[in-house]
Amino acid sequence: MATGVSGSVVKPAAVRGLTRSFGDRTVLDELDLDIEPGQFVALLGPSGCGKSTLLRILADLDQEVSGDVRVAERRAVAFQTPRLMPWKRVWRNVVLGLPGRPDKERAVAALEEVGLGHRVEVWPKVLSGGEAQRASLARALVREPDLLLLDEPFSALDALTRIRAQRLVGELWRRHRCAILLVTHDVEEALLLADRVLVMRDGRIGYDQEVDLDRPRDVTDPAFVALRAELLSWLGVGEGSAE
Ligand SMILES: Nc1ncnc2c1ncn2[C@@H]1O[C@H](COP(=O)(O)OP(=O)(O)OP(=O)(O)O)[C@@H](O)[C@H]1O
Ligand SMILES: [Mg+2]
Repeated sequence: MATGVSGSVVKPAAVRGLTRSFGDRTVLDELDLDIEPGQFVALLGPSGCGKSTLLRILADLDQEVSGDVRVAERRAVAFQTPRLMPWKRVWRNVVLGLPGRPDKERAVAALEEVGLGHRVEVWPKVLSGGEAQRASLARALVREPDLLLLDEPFSALDALTRIRAQRLVGELWRRHRCAILLVTHDVEEALLLADRVLVMRDGRIGYDQEVDLDRPRDVTDPAFVALRAELLSWLGVGEGSAE
């Protein structure tokens, strides 16, 4: 199998026949997936279906797999919790792990982009939940990824902060034009942000739908409402659901 493949890869992600088992439980079963440059993809699916498993593999955090996994070399990941190092100031967290000397200017620029220009020197414990999540986004962006992997980055935020964070990710995507794979449980969030929505089922991508709605999107638009109903039905929670 090939993973973490080089810059010769044209697509941010190209996955063929990906299988991952834990003991005798097969979580990903011959999964195929392509993500195009600059595409914003949302990934939904019931709890435990393998979304984070897939994301971890794409982030090269799990190599115990079979199949062919090709991923852009420049990729970054942000998780449900910000995972900042408490003993490093915020700006140092942002550039942590980058090659060379810690580049404060780069860190400051990324923090300003996410509205944290005033939090450069503080310790992570001083940040609110939403601020810490934005710092985690800055840490991902500073890597100038071709593929940004986001695993439920807003789920721990309160409703208002969540809306702001969603808007911020939409803006950052428009500016940077990196491909994004966003794992979320929120159908509305997926349809507000993504070009394409996937639902995992039985270890594969069971549903793959382009979201061809004008931006900014309106949750009351009949086309939006229809897509939401279809997705909910696919997830087995809508009226007259497929389950
Ligand atoms: N390291 C591991 N060892 C054993 N089982 C694991 C491991 N990681 C994941 N699993 C199992 O694989 C399945 C898929 O887990 P995963 O975390 O990918 O689900 P998920 O779709 O992200 O769920 P959620 O929406 O709840 O986050 C689960 O049954 C989980 O228990
Ligand atoms: Mg998960």
